[in-house]
Amino acid sequence: MNMNELVVESNPKSSISEAIKTIRTNLQFSSIEKKLETVLVTSSMPGEGKSFVSSNLAVAFVQDGKKVLLVDCDMRKGRQHKIFHVENERGLSTLLLGPINVANIKDFTQRTEIKNLDILTMGIVPPNPSELLNSINMRSLIDVLKKEYDLIIFDGVPVNGLTDSVIMSKLVDEVVIVSAMKQTPLELLAQTKKTLGTVDANIAGVIVNKVPNKNGGYYYGNYGNYYM
Ligand SMILES: Nc1ncnc2c1ncn2[C@@H]1O[C@H](COP(=O)(O)OP(=O)(O)OP(=O)(O)O)[C@@H](O)[C@H]1O
Ligand SMILES: [Mg+2]
Repeated sequence: MNMNELVVESNPKSSISEAIKTIRTNLQFSSIEKKLETVLVTSSMPGEGKSFVSSNLAVAFVQDGKKVLLVDCDMRKGRQHKIFHVENERGLSTLLLGPINVANIKDFTQRTEIKNLDILTMGIVPPNPSELLNSINMRSLIDVLKKEYDLIIFDGVPVNGLTDSVIMSKLVDEVVIVSAMKQTPLELLAQTKKTLGTVDANIAGVIVNKVPNKNGGYYYGNYGNYYM
């Protein structure tokens, strides 16, 4: 496991871990009328920290007693299998090609070294990721997974330029938008919120990631509802 990135596991008392736990709490509060079962983590552009945030958020929910599945929806260049050091021959793309039932799903999900945290990696790069996410199989997959897990976290792709996360945002209970300080242009973030708003996605909030800390690193995150 890449313990450097899974800070909530390796360094639970750090400020970034505290920040991730705050996101967890806020998510729990943003879905009070309906049980929180599915969360999509997306962003405006590549590299803002979706995979970092989604993997750590998954660990944070496990620490809160939930049985969690992390799904890597980035079927183009997902890297959750690298973060968790598991194989990627079987994953989301290959699962979606076959029949969706509990037995089949169990052949594709993998345990991680963290108890109660399973992972569904991206699978081999398919020619048509958006089509797969938009398929009836994807919808049935989510329905079946909800019966097997308390919470499913989807690591998405950026909203701008790709339809994948827009499609996914309609299939989940809550959407978290990751932005990176000094990296994400505000107009682009506003555009992302607008695009997700037009499909009536439930935006739980925007995470401001990569906030520099006084040690010269940026292992720090923040969370809030910033409406623009
Ligand atoms: N808060 C943070 N502190 C330190 N490093 C971070 C933080 N957030 C992200 N990173 C690093 O920044 C890089 C990009 O992050 P990540 O892969 O999570 O972004 P992404 O939004 O998933 O990118 P992509 O669009 O390519 O999928 C990674 O090397 C990751 O470890
Ligand atoms: Mg990523």
